[in-house]
Amino acid sequence: MTIGFILNGEDVVIRSDANVRLIDILRVNFGLLKTKAGCLTGKCGFCAVIFNGSVNHACLVPAFRLRGSEVITIEGFSQTYEYQDIMAGFAEAQLESCGYCTTSKVLNAGALLERIKRPSRQEILQAFSGIKCRCTDPEKLVEGIEKAVELRQRRLYGRSA
Ligand code: FES
Ligand code: FES
Repeated sequence: MTIGFILNGEDVVIRSDANVRLIDILRVNFGLLKTKAGCLTGKCGFCAVIFNGSVNHACLVPAFRLRGSEVITIEGFSQTYEYQDIMAGFAEAQLESCGYCTTSKVLNAGALLERIKRPSRQEILQAFSGIKCRCTDPEKLVEGIEKAVELRQRRLYGRSA
């Protein structure tokens, strides 16, 4: 089938079987390799993309659901000021992250801060609960997000939150 959708702000068209996973389409058709393939069963949370405005597992989105949709991968999100705030916040908090989970942590952070301008500790922990990373201290995630909020506030208004 022929499927048109928006990928990182650009109109794209692919030919694909209906059930091919988005994770494979991103990696094979478009060479977008920063969306990581982990469990491929929706459990690890490493394959995050923003699909129609919410964080979704790219391993669970079949091609037929892409028609008319909007997909943002980390490659697209990394062009934004929000990305810079989050990366700087994570760095200030000395948040540990590896090649598998960084994409998901950043996109989940982006979606959280889009939804809630100054999230509570509970809301932050909830936002990351679907990522199966046992290496990161959850308190560092909270600190990283709080620092990202502060940096965004300074960028937008020239003062702290
Ligand atoms: S690869 Fe998609 S949730 Fe694990
Ligand atoms: S899985 Fe990447 S730091 Fe834990």
